[in-house]
Amino acid sequence: MNKISSIQKLEKDFVLELYNLTGSIKKSWPEISRQNKTVCLLFWEPSTRTKLSFEHAAKKLGFNVIDFSPSNSSLEKGESFEDTIKTILALKVDGLIVRHPETKISEKIVQMLPENVFFINAGDGNYAHPTQGLLDVFTMSEVVDLTKLNLTILGDAKHSRVIPSLLQTLDMLGCKNINYISPESLALPQTNAFTAISNDMLSKSDILYILRIQRERFSKEEGIDDKFFSENYQVNKEFIETTNFQGKIMHPGPINIGVEITRDISDGEDSLILKQVENGLYLRAALLQLLSSG
Ligand code: CP
Repeated sequence: MNKISSIQKLEKDFVLELYNLTGSIKKSWPEISRQNKTVCLLFWEPSTRTKLSFEHAAKKLGFNVIDFSPSNSSLEKGESFEDTIKTILALKVDGLIVRHPETKISEKIVQMLPENVFFINAGDGNYAHPTQGLLDVFTMSEVVDLTKLNLTILGDAKHSRVIPSLLQTLDMLGCKNINYISPESLALPQTNAFTAISNDMLSKSDILYILRIQRERFSKEEGIDDKFFSENYQVNKEFIETTNFQGKIMHPGPINIGVEITRDISDGEDSLILKQVENGLYLRAALLQLLSSG
């Protein structure tokens, strides 16, 4: 018997054997789990690099990976966020990797998890994106001594969840020389952002870190025109020549070609953009290994 469509088709002996085996598996589950840890990916927002690099890294390290898809889950039938997390925990996963639009939901999730379940915030609202910040600083450290790094951040720092994580990592590792360029409406609060391109600043910068306009985190009053942005802030060949910028180009992605950057710059020999993606794989593998080894 290897097909089940209803209980009526089952013999009582089969059910009793099934119950017997279920009890044995329940008893030996901790032993079975030790052989291969399980991580669950929960992404409420689209992602290419974060989700795929976590999945790829986890599989290479021998994890089982469960991909929770909110739009195909019982959330659609009215189950709450909290009950969804409890349900996934009841399935004995070893770790959760979560992306969510709500700012600081990561802190709430951490409170819900038992000690032995690890957790990685894959981006929540504009609060944090720790792995992106860490991998970007790792990438910077491959080309410049961080304590001597002269960094310029250009674009929508205000709505970025990468920027808080990036700045906290840079501060921890001794990089203090950071400048900002953005329209006033996209400037990070409490920074003296230049609202016009400064040739003097850029000619001395080692790395230009470019950010897209993060419309998904805008309130209506904060609107900015793509045309205005690209005419005044786009990093293109003319920008590089006029400013005499001679450093490396970085961008956490996704990139919007023709808005904050042009194709020749994103694909140019000074671009580290795909190096960032590659380093994301290694950094996330390292983090999974460290967090799951406890
Ligand atoms: N940088 C970043 O988080 O990219 P994804 O949205 O593609 O994961």
